[in-house]
Amino acid sequence: MIDPPTVRLPTARPSAPTLLRASRVTMEFGGLAALREVSFGLAEREVLGLIGPNGAGKTTLFNCLTGLYTPTAGAVTLRGRALPRDSARVTESGVARTFQNIRLFPTMTVQENVLVGRHVRMRQGVLSSLLHGRGFRRSEAEAANRASQLLEFVGLTTVSDELANNLSYGDQRRLEIARALATDPSVLLLDEPTAGMNAAETENTRRLILAIREQGIAVVVIEHDTKFIFSLCDRVLVLVQGAVLVEGGADEVQGDPRVIEAYLGAPPSDVDALIHGGRA
Ligand SMILES: Nc1ncnc2c1ncn2[C@@H]1O[C@H](COP(=O)(O)OP(=O)(O)OP(=O)(O)O)[C@@H](O)[C@H]1O
Ligand SMILES: [Mg+2]
Repeated sequence: MIDPPTVRLPTARPSAPTLLRASRVTMEFGGLAALREVSFGLAEREVLGLIGPNGAGKTTLFNCLTGLYTPTAGAVTLRGRALPRDSARVTESGVARTFQNIRLFPTMTVQENVLVGRHVRMRQGVLSSLLHGRGFRRSEAEAANRASQLLEFVGLTTVSDELANNLSYGDQRRLEIARALATDPSVLLLDEPTAGMNAAETENTRRLILAIREQGIAVVVIEHDTKFIFSLCDRVLVLVQGAVLVEGGADEVQGDPRVIEAYLGAPPSDVDALIHGGRA
C-alpha cells in the first residue's frame, strides 16, 4: 500500500464549497418511512461519518444518494445540480460507492474487477471497440495502467491476477474501493468498509481513507465501529429510525447524551467507546 499520510490533513473548513447535498430526503416503503426528511451537506475534502443502530436507514440513504432508490420526497444535488435518476449516470457524474454486502465479479480477476469500474470513463465508441481499432487499444492500455496504479494504492498488486473469489474478506473490501476509485469519483460512499476486518486491517483502511481524501475526494463512511468513525471523521451524522438525531464534529457527537442513549441497545463495546472516547 502507498505510504499513509503521517500528519492529519487540515479538516474541511465550514466555508468549503458543498459538493453533495441531501435536502429533506424521505424514503417510504409501503407504510414504513425508512428515511424522514434527512438533510446534510458534504463539503469538498470532508470525511463524514454516518452511524446509527441497525435498520436506522444508513444504507437506504446511500441508495438514495446513488440513484438506486428515488426518494419519495426531497432532493439530492451534486455541485448544485439535481442528481441523475439512474445509478450508472450517478457514477458518471462523480459519485461512487461500495456495498455493505460485497458485490464483486467473483470469477473475474482482481485487475478485471477494477477495469469494470474504469470503463465508466472510457469514451471509445462501440464501433471502435468492435473493430479493436488503435484508439480502442490505446484506451485499453490506459485503463490497464490506471487499474495497476489503483491496485498499488490499495495494496493489492501482488494478487492482481487472482480471482476475486479467492481473496480474503478484507482484500475483497479493498478491491471494492479500488473499483469505485477507478470511476474517478469526487464523492466516495463506503458502506461498512471494515466489517469483518481485524484491528490491523481496520487501521490500514483508516489510513487508506485519509489517503483518498488527500487526493481531493470527499468521503461518506458508514460504520458500526464508533472508535473507527470518531478517529477518522471530520463530522459525524447520527441516524436513528430514519431521522437525523445529531450532526456535528466528531468530539461533539461522541459526548452527546442523546447519542449514547441511542446506542444503549447496541453492543457494550460501542457504548463504551462513545462514553470513554474512541480516539486512537
Ligand atoms: N427495498 C426495501 N424494501 C422495504 N424495506 C426496506 C428496503 N430497503 C430498506 N428497507 C427498510 O428500511 C429500513 C432501513 O434499512 P437500512 O438497510 O437502510 O438500515 P441500515 O441503517 O443500513 O442498517 P444496518 O446497520 O443493519 O445495515 C429497515 O427497516 C429496512 O427493512
Ligand atoms: Mg446498512
